[in-house]
Amino acid sequence: MNPFSETAVIAIRPMLNLDIEAVSKIEKQSFTTFWSTQAYVTELTNPNALYLVATLEDRLVGYGGLWVIMDEAHITTIAVEAGLRGKKIGERLLAEMLLAAQKRGASRSTLEVRETNDPAKRLYEKYGFEWVAIRKAYYSDNNENADILWINDMTTSEWRRRFAANRAALGLPPS
Ligand SMILES: CC(C)(COP(=O)(O)OP(=O)(O)OC[C@H]1O[C@@H](n2cnc3c(N)ncnc32)[C@H](O)[C@@H]1OP(=O)(O)O)[C@@H](O)C(=O)NCCC(=O)NCCS
Repeated sequence: MNPFSETAVIAIRPMLNLDIEAVSKIEKQSFTTFWSTQAYVTELTNPNALYLVATLEDRLVGYGGLWVIMDEAHITTIAVEAGLRGKKIGERLLAEMLLAAQKRGASRSTLEVRETNDPAKRLYEKYGFEWVAIRKAYYSDNNENADILWINDMTTSEWRRRFAANRAALGLPPS
């Protein structure tokens, strides 16, 4: 199946242990520091964690994860295969992660992002994340600062409307 075809089917499902190898390949294309296989195995058994993968015709093409602790969802990672970016795969992952987080009781969400990572920052802004603070020299590979972003309240009617509209544009149900 041509991955760029209009009829190619993207599906989102929970990450499994057998996905870790494919996830690690995408991670190596996407980041400068990597999680070990054991770190993923541990995360997949963490009751506070939720990891999803995106598949395209059964091939793993993206992944993302978060922790839900009390009412806060902390996005830990998200990445899409390098050759398939810009096709709404990352957005689908984020939309499903935020929905799953709400179902687990989260009403706020936070993450760190490199201050020069404009594609990711635009994606997060689209979902209502707002800049709150800088963590200086957070990334040890080049001492880049992290922007700390928050969605302060995912229960407001304004945020819910925006979320439902973004999901509808992706062809996803509101909840
Ligand atoms: C960030 C990332 C996950 C986005 O996934 P993607 O599938 O390429 O993005 P999507 O096609 O879903 O884009 C959704 C939105 O993100 C923003 N976006 C994505 N790519 C963008 C780009 N190159 N420039 C500007 N905005 C961009 C836009 O707001 C876009 O919405 P729009 O199409 O309505 O404008 C992807 O670029 C990636 O894997 N990057 C490397 C890993 C990474 O940096 N992860 C984030 C760590 S904090």
